[in-house]
Order: sequence, then C-alpha cells, then structure tokens
Amino acid sequence: MKPWGGRFLEPTDPQIEDFTASIEIDKRLFAYDIMGSIAYAEMLERIGILSEAERKKIVKALEEIKEEIETGRFKFSNELEDIHMHVERRLVEKIGETGNKLHTGRSRNEQISLDVRMFLKDELREIECELVRLMGSILEKAEKYKDLSMPGYTHMRKAQIVPFGHYMLSFYYMFKRDRERIKLAISQADAMPLGTGALAGSTIPIDREYLRERLGFSRLTENSMDTASDRDFVLDATYALSVLMVHLSRLSEDLIIFSTEEFSFFRLPDRLLTGSSLMPHKKNPDALELIRGRTARVISDLFSLLVLLKALPSTYNRDLQEDKEPLFHALSVAKSSISIMRLCIEGLEINREGIENALKTGYIEATELAEYLVLKGLPFREAHRLVGTIIKECDRRKISLKDLQINELKSFSSLFDEDVYEFMDPLMIVKKRMTYGGASYDGVVKQIEEERVYLSS
Ligand code: ARG
Repeated sequence: MKPWGGRFLEPTDPQIEDFTASIEIDKRLFAYDIMGSIAYAEMLERIGILSEAERKKIVKALEEIKEEIETGRFKFSNELEDIHMHVERRLVEKIGETGNKLHTGRSRNEQISLDVRMFLKDELREIECELVRLMGSILEKAEKYKDLSMPGYTHMRKAQIVPFGHYMLSFYYMFKRDRERIKLAISQADAMPLGTGALAGSTIPIDREYLRERLGFSRLTENSMDTASDRDFVLDATYALSVLMVHLSRLSEDLIIFSTEEFSFFRLPDRLLTGSSLMPHKKNPDALELIRGRTARVISDLFSLLVLLKALPSTYNRDLQEDKEPLFHALSVAKSSISIMRLCIEGLEINREGIENALKTGYIEATELAEYLVLKGLPFREAHRLVGTIIKECDRRKISLKDLQINELKSFSSLFDEDVYEFMDPLMIVKKRMTYGGASYDGVVKQIEEERVYLSS
C-alpha cells in the first residue's frame, strides 16, 4: 500500500503511477532529502516525539539509505512517486514501526521546497566559482594585450577606436553583474520551509528555529500557505542564469565573428574547434555556437517556469513538480557554458596585425577629429558637418583622413593646426580620452588593478 493509501478503495492504475511519478528527475535531490530528514528526526527528539534510541535508529538507517543510493544499490520505482516516499518507505522497511514516526507534522510539499532550496544554494555557489574563474581569465587576457587597440563597432560598422582591454572588460563587467544576480538568487533561496506543513503549519510544536540553524539557513519562510507554492527562488535563479547565458551568447557571437577569415582579429586553437564531415578544409567554432544555441533553451526554461506559475490556485498543486526539469537544465547548461567559455578565452589567440590593419580604414578617427575642432571652439554640430565634408572628399580621392596635408585641412577650416595629427593617431586617441568609464588605456590599467582586488577578496 502507498504511504497515503488508507482511504483508497483500489490500487492506483499503473498508467497513473507512471504519469505522476517524478523519481527519475528528483532522485538527484536524495542527499538533501536525507539531510533534511536527519535534522527533522533530531528536532522530533528535542520536542519529545522521538526517544533518543528511536532518533539514533532513524539517523543510522537514513545514513545507510544514503549510501545505498550513492553506491547504486537502491531500487527506484514509479510506484513510490518521488524521492521523499522512496526514502521513507525504505526507512520503514529497514527499521519498522519507528520509521513511521518520521513524517510527523511534515508534508512532501515542504520537503520538496527544502530539498530544492538546499540543492540550489550549492549549485549556484559552484556556478559563482566557475564564473569568477572566467572573470579572472578575461582580466588576464586584457592585461596581456593592454597596449593593443582595436576598432569598436556599432551596428557592426566601424565606430571608434578602443583599447582591446576595454573591449574585454566590457564582458567582464557583464559577468560581474551576473555574479551579483547569482548571489541575490542564493539569498532568495536561503529561507527554511520545514514546519509549514502541507499548507497550514501544525499542532505539533515543530522547532523551526532548530531546523533553520541545523540546516544552515539564514531565515525562516514566513507564511505556510505561501511557502507551499513559493517558487520565486527558482525563478530568480533561472532569471539570473538566463541573463548570464545571454552574455555568454553575445561573447560567443563576437568571438565567432572576429575569428572569421574576413575579420581575422582572433584565432581559436584547433583543440577548441571541430571539423566538417564533408568539407576537408573546415574548422568550426561549434562549441561557441552551442553556447549561443543553448541560451535559447535556458531562456525557455525561464518562460516555462513563469507560465507554470502564472495561473496556479494558491498553495500546492502538482503542476509544481514540473519546475525541476527546467531548473536543473538551466543550471547544468550555465555551468558547462561558463567553463567552455573560459577555455575559449584562455586559448584565444590575438592577431595584432589583423586588428591593426583594420584600424587603417573606415575613418575610425572621425569623431575625435570633430572633437578636436570643438576643443578649438567650433560648435559640435558644425564640426560634425565639416568632418563629414572632409570625409566626402577622402572618399572621392580614396584616401584616409591622415593622408590629408595640413594645408588641405586648413582649406576646410583655419582651426586646423599641426597638432591635429595627434587626434588622428590611434595611440594618442586612447591616451587622450578622459571620461570615467571611457575607452582609454589608463582606464583599462586602473580597472584591471581594481578588479584583481575585487576577485581576490
Ligand atoms: N514530487 C512533488 C514535487 O516535485 C513533491 C511534492 C508532492 N506533494 C504532493 N502532495 N503530491 O512537487
């Protein structure tokens, strides 16, 4: 008979059993489920529901069950629905009547909330560590090439010159925000649900504070009805992971484009590429494409969860069982994607020549040229128009701005002087930028230093 079978007139249809079972998915939570049960048994002893001998018996059996699962000797079956019922049934099998006392005042609704919260805190901490390692490798690349400049793009058209380090740091700061979001998601999951029962708490004086302390939570959940169906912490985590994946996906996209033969800014080493079954010459960035592709699936995990929750009547409904697959999926994709990205960043080779060549065309110094005129007193709109006219002339003669002699420049405006060439020198431009957060060499050096300290603290 099922643990809940008392009032049932006939056994469950096996099709219903298979359809409702979640054990294939939630067995992954076994260690947390058992940890929760051990703490619960201790608490039941403290409030006089279990004797010391009974508690010892239960704890010993639970530890054995844990080992049975770890070593693959445990038998799972859909008949027992989920991890909670599997552990409980095995406990009773092992120690008889005493095992039947463990579930006093407890519901699977709070158990699943507890298990997922504990699991999630651990998983997110691991992801945070991986992320910090990736951030470190980005800083290292930025540092290594801190004297290199490259074109910055808007609309995929050359825009303004930027230090390579500044470009690398642009992703670093995205990941830094992701780290903050992950920490926030950890703190959202950090509320202890046991003692809230199925939806109403209990007449048994469950010591929630003991459980909180023992299971390493920083606070208690506040309302038993809310607790039964609160999955905000699952949403928070999946949102944080979705944004992180969007950043990884955008970086993937950049690395793919900039390592094409057409750009030739970067090169990815062979060990990170894959071949084509038909075309012998191909070396493809499939891993990066898969980060991009799997981002779509993580975003859909977030959508699944939002839709799952949006019309649920209050407290527990079995729909909630469907939250685990998207959450587990998002966690595992994020974790593997971060570490693949770290491999790519560490392995990324920089083609200085390709990058420096790209700086020679495209009038990348046009904005600074207009700024030069502004600093000499011309209103910006006029400077903009004038530089546009000069570029039109360069276009016609198929030359670059730097090729213009000073007397030619002077014919456009008497404000031009010899010092104008400094404003068209890529090296000088990135040295002259002043604004905080702007694309300047000094800014990069300072930020790398600051962020090193941040990462090591
Ligand atoms: N397997 C369920 C879940 O994942 C556990 C809670 C089941 N509660 C219940 N009353 N059927 O949500």
